[in-house]
Amino acid sequence: MLTGNQSKNTGALERGSGMSAGKEQARARAETLRRELQRHDYLYHVLDAPEITDAEYDRLLVELQQLEKEYPELVTPDSPTQRVGGRLREGFATVRHTVPMLSLSNAFGEQDLREFDRRVRSGLGEETYEYIVELKIDGLAVSLVYRDGILVRGATRGDGEYGEDITHNLKTVKSIPLRLLEPGVNLEVRGEVYMSKESFVELNRVREEHGETIFANPRNAAAGSLRQLDPSVTARRNLSIFVYGAGSVELPGEKAPTTHMETLALFDRLGLRVNTHHQLCRDIEEVISYCRLWTEKKAELPYTIDGLVIKVNSLAQQAALGATMKSPRWATAFKFPAEEAETTVRDIIVSVGRTGAVTPTAVLEPVTVAGSTISRASLHNEDIIREKDVRIGDRVIIHKAGDVIPEVVRVLAEQRTGSEKMFTMPATCPVCGAEVIRQTGEAAYRCTGASCPAQLLEGLIHFASRGAMDIAGMGPAVVTQLVNAGLVRNVADIYRLTGEQLLELERFADKSAENLVQAIRDSKERPLYRLLYALGIRHVGERASRILAEHFGDLRRIMEAGADELTAIPEIGPKIAESVVNFMRQEQNRALIERLTDLGLNVTMDNQTGPDSPDAPLAGQTFVLTGTLPTLKRDEAKELIENQGGKVVSSVSKNTGYVVAGENPGSKYDKAVKLGITIIGEKELLKMLNV
Ligand code: IVH
Repeated sequence: MLTGNQSKNTGALERGSGMSAGKEQARARAETLRRELQRHDYLYHVLDAPEITDAEYDRLLVELQQLEKEYPELVTPDSPTQRVGGRLREGFATVRHTVPMLSLSNAFGEQDLREFDRRVRSGLGEETYEYIVELKIDGLAVSLVYRDGILVRGATRGDGEYGEDITHNLKTVKSIPLRLLEPGVNLEVRGEVYMSKESFVELNRVREEHGETIFANPRNAAAGSLRQLDPSVTARRNLSIFVYGAGSVELPGEKAPTTHMETLALFDRLGLRVNTHHQLCRDIEEVISYCRLWTEKKAELPYTIDGLVIKVNSLAQQAALGATMKSPRWATAFKFPAEEAETTVRDIIVSVGRTGAVTPTAVLEPVTVAGSTISRASLHNEDIIREKDVRIGDRVIIHKAGDVIPEVVRVLAEQRTGSEKMFTMPATCPVCGAEVIRQTGEAAYRCTGASCPAQLLEGLIHFASRGAMDIAGMGPAVVTQLVNAGLVRNVADIYRLTGEQLLELERFADKSAENLVQAIRDSKERPLYRLLYALGIRHVGERASRILAEHFGDLRRIMEAGADELTAIPEIGPKIAESVVNFMRQEQNRALIERLTDLGLNVTMDNQTGPDSPDAPLAGQTFVLTGTLPTLKRDEAKELIENQGGKVVSSVSKNTGYVVAGENPGSKYDKAVKLGITIIGEKELLKMLNV
């Protein structure tokens, strides 16, 4: 049984509060409960001979938790409630797994695999057996409970016995069905939630750009995303799942599977996501060749794997082999060979990314790691260099996982000779010579030059993009051509482009050149706040641009504003203020603004934007409202959205921009989850509306 037997718990709670009438009574009851629970823990985990069901256990635990909540002074360090609480993060409820989620023994090479096979053979006597080999996905193990085909609970593995209830977060993972394809199924399924290499790289890129700490690998990123207290953050993280095992299976009018292969087929039939790379092997030699195959091919996968899992296929044989305290005897994990090597840091150089981040990289004595030659390793930022204390000349251990950029794991400080040199960040950009600064609270150093060639491309693409100056026909490919041809060196140059110049470029004909020249001319009419946003000042997003434009009414006044003046404006914090001041201080940026003014762009606030204007803040955005919002009535929310150019419709489709959900949301909420539509609450809506 599961923990969530609400009706029975109520009885226990009433009993608990009855007992808690007097503090003495409560103390005595808590003591009894503690002893009882400890005894059941021992019976269950040590002797493997439980006397009570999980539900009965949970009732006792809930009763104790309730008493301790009422009288916090009764909490003792050895209380079973503390063992749970201490290990788990605040904010998530603790759940006890019906069937413990064991981990796997490891096989570090072919010899270990053959030994595992010998143990299986001796455990099974004369019987023949087969193995099924699966990829070992490098993510976070979770348990999903389906009752009558509906997902009712999702939890982390935790310590195998107790996990955290992360149902809300797991519901945002699109490959997790909220309802199975067949009704009446009771199932506890286990799987690995992971982040693809692509999503991981993108997430870190954005985090680095925002000066946030980056995740070391996709597993940490997946774990960090799942343990968010705010499910809307998880929802944005692009997580997926592969399921690989069942805790329990109950099918109506049908026998449960008898082999692991059948279990996977069942999962598939029910709409659960199973990894297609698995193989049935008749003997350990076949297992070994399959492991060899994936050792070679693992980098080709779009997600990281840290090995393979070998399982005895027959469930009856699995049961016969049983488990030790920690891991089953019928399965093992084949771990890939180490991907670490020792080498010397020859130099530390910096490169300037397209967003201006100045990133240090270690130049290494070339070394072979898991089949590839490595001569560079990312050092990410100055904090990481300090933390790891990496110096030029150091002997270091480097790690390479799949096709993720190699990293310095640690320094072999004991091998230092004294000739190693500390690294310092350059004060000026190695590409354009502009000042390099680090903003408060940011990990990255950045080049401040608006015309830095390293940043130019990205800056131009942003400038011309839809939310900014919206220059139709000036996408990344055209911008790249313009930069490569030397026609554009800063955003002001865009406004001097002629049709003849464009005709020199690839894929431009008379008509397309003429259209682009016209689109560029049209963009001069964009209101000030869009121009400000288009300049790409760090931390100055669309909202901040609007606030600043409205407050100052003139770009040249923003240019002269000091940090104090800026922070005095509601909603403009020190981070934005510092960024604006730093930008406006740079001579080349000031010159750029002068040029834009001379070119006739809107550097003052003379355009008002009504709801029907394409420049209205929510123009083109569709909203669906569901449930009761905390303060706004539905009509009020609708009016607010419409006033700013947004549209409110009644049903969710893939074209819906946002679903605004309040209490007791209806089926629109589920549909939004299914389609991956961003779900926001009233607070976020008000924030978007800037009210
Ligand atoms: S089976 C009792 N299969 O590896 C067997 N595990 O150390 C339970 N994992 O906690 C695991 N891919 O997080 C199994 N195909 C797979 C797996 C897999 C990844 C993870 C899982 C588990 C850990 C075992």
